[in-house]
Amino acid sequence: MPLSQQIEALRSHFLEDLNKVATTKDIESLKIKYLGKKGPISALLQELRHASAQDIPRFGKWINDLKEELMAHCENTLARMQAQELKSSLSKEWLDVTLPGRRNFLGRKHPIQQMLEKVLDILVGMGFSVQYGPDVDTDYYNFEALNFAKDHPARDMQDTFYLSKEWLLRTHTSNVQVHAMQSCKPPIRIIAPGRAFRNENISARSHVFFHQVEGIYVDVGVTFADLMATLEEFIRKLLGKKAEVRFRPSFFPFVEPGLEVDARCTRCFGEGCRVCKHSGWLEILGAGMVHPNVLKKGSIDPEIYTGYAWGLGIERLTMLFFDIPDIRMFTENDLRFLEQFL
Ligand code: DAH
Repeated sequence: MPLSQQIEALRSHFLEDLNKVATTKDIESLKIKYLGKKGPISALLQELRHASAQDIPRFGKWINDLKEELMAHCENTLARMQAQELKSSLSKEWLDVTLPGRRNFLGRKHPIQQMLEKVLDILVGMGFSVQYGPDVDTDYYNFEALNFAKDHPARDMQDTFYLSKEWLLRTHTSNVQVHAMQSCKPPIRIIAPGRAFRNENISARSHVFFHQVEGIYVDVGVTFADLMATLEEFIRKLLGKKAEVRFRPSFFPFVEPGLEVDARCTRCFGEGCRVCKHSGWLEILGAGMVHPNVLKKGSIDPEIYTGYAWGLGIERLTMLFFDIPDIRMFTENDLRFLEQFL
């Protein structure tokens, strides 16, 4: 076929293909197909070698003209399509700059967490190390090893969430006491923060789950005076020198003697409110000298060693500290409440 016809055929094929092009990508493929190294134009240029010397410049010009023509077609179509694509994406992806911006919320620590950290900071500073006990434990560690008589009312189904006859959700962090004694030898000086669970009616002052920090110290010659001094120092550091606290004798099966510490209710300044059950005082911790029976369960000889222990309620303290009227607020996840704790 003479070259002029070949060029004609190529042009019409190209124009046919160009008609079918739908996207800018298609144009790229078209360019490669016709103008690429392996395309028909390159082939024609190769063929030139076989032409006569006088034809070469003429034929060369024809081919190059064709090449430029096709190139121009590609460029024009490409420009047109790009403009179209831009126009359609602009109309689809328009932005309403008058809309209000999206607010970013800054994460904050929950007040319970803040209080826990404060308490742990002070106690770690006083020489206690942190150990964690299990939330799900056996009746043995939660009650029996702690000297609870078989018919003690706290074992009643009313207070305890039993998972089976043997397993339960711990009702206090005191369950770590015998675990700790079994896992290390005296001197034992640990604190155990964590959750406790009780099957109680939910009200302004009590919930079915809450946080406690247990403390236990066992060594040779630990006395009641050590306990009082430690608690006084701790409370002074936590609530300040001016905080009003009172110590009163109390009973817990796992300590002898036992005591409770109340803090003056800062919500009502002692006048009486729902939180302090109108007594003006809020019970914040229980404590005492570890009962010899408990030491024995931990394989510690009560003839040689003595110890003290305490259990502190974090919710009550937090309420006192931040002047919070209702324990339920901690778990409602209301941002208007949570945002107040920086
Ligand atoms: N476990 C007790 C409670 O939850 C608090 C307590 C009292 C813990 C006396 C102690 C203690 O370690 O010695 O009410």
